Amino acid sequence: MKDKIEVITTGDGSSSLYNPQLDETYHSSHGAITESRHVFIQEGLDFIYSGQEEINILEVGFGTGLNAILTLEKAETIKTKINYVTLELYPLEMKLIDELNYKSYFPKTLQEKYEVLHKADWAKAVEVTPNFTLTKLETSLENYETDQLFDLVYFDAFGPRKQPEMWTADFLAQATKPMKKGGTLVTYCAMGQFRRDLKSLGLAVEKVPGPPGKREMTRGVKV
Ligand SMILES: C[S@@+](CC[C@H](N)C(=O)[O-])C[C@H]1O[C@@H](n2cnc3c(N)ncnc32)[C@H](O)[C@@H]1O
Repeated sequence: MKDKIEVITTGDGSSSLYNPQLDETYHSSHGAITESRHVFIQEGLDFIYSGQEEINILEVGFGTGLNAILTLEKAETIKTKINYVTLELYPLEMKLIDELNYKSYFPKTLQEKYEVLHKADWAKAVEVTPNFTLTKLETSLENYETDQLFDLVYFDAFGPRKQPEMWTADFLAQATKPMKKGGTLVTYCAMGQFRRDLKSLGLAVEKVPGPPGKREMTRGVKV
C-alpha cells in the first residue's frame, strides 16, 4: 500500500500525502496544518487543558507525524508532560517524510524533533523532550490492548467512505475503551452513524465547527 503514495500540496501551502489505492489524502485538501491545528490542537488539547501536570494522548494513525509534532510544540508552550501513544499499521518510509514541507513551518529545534519522532524506535517509550514522550506502536487499532488510560484521543483514521471498518462500533470501542472517565475524543468526521455509535459507547457527543472546507467536526466526552 505504501509504495505508490504521493506528496501533494494542500490549500494552506502545507504538504500532505495522497494514497491512490484508497483515493484518499492524509489530511484535508484545504490545508493539512490548518486542519491538524484546528481539530486536534485547538478543539482537543486546548479544550481539555486546564493546568494539568501530565496528559496522556492516544492517536489512531501516526501517518506523517503532523499531529505529533504540533502536540510536542504545544507541550513545550504549556510546559506540561505529554505521554503520546500512537498506532500505525502502515508506517511511512523516511524518504517520503523527507519530501514533506512541515519543517519549514517550525523553528530549528522543532525541525530536529520532527526527525526524532520519525526515527524513534517502535514499541518503546522514547523521551523526545522532558515534556513529550512518544510511544509508536506498529499495530492495528483492532488489536490494540492496553492498561493505560487516556485523557485525549485523536481519532485520525482515513475517512469512513475509504476505510469503513475503522468507523464501526467495534473499532470505535477499541479507541474509547482506554479513555479515562471525563476523557475526550476528537475527530474531523461528523457523520451521523459515527456520532450515534460514540453515544452508544458512553460518550456525550457534540458537533463543533470544523476547519476550512468542513462545516462540522465531532468531539465526545466519556461520561
Ligand atoms: C488520515 S491518515 C493519518 C494522518 C496522521 N495523523 C498524520 O498527521 O499524518 C490515517 C492513518 O491511519 C493509518 N491506519 C490505517 N489503518 C489503520 C489501522 N487499522 N490501525 C491504525 N492505523 C491505521 C494509516 O496508515 C494512516 O497513516
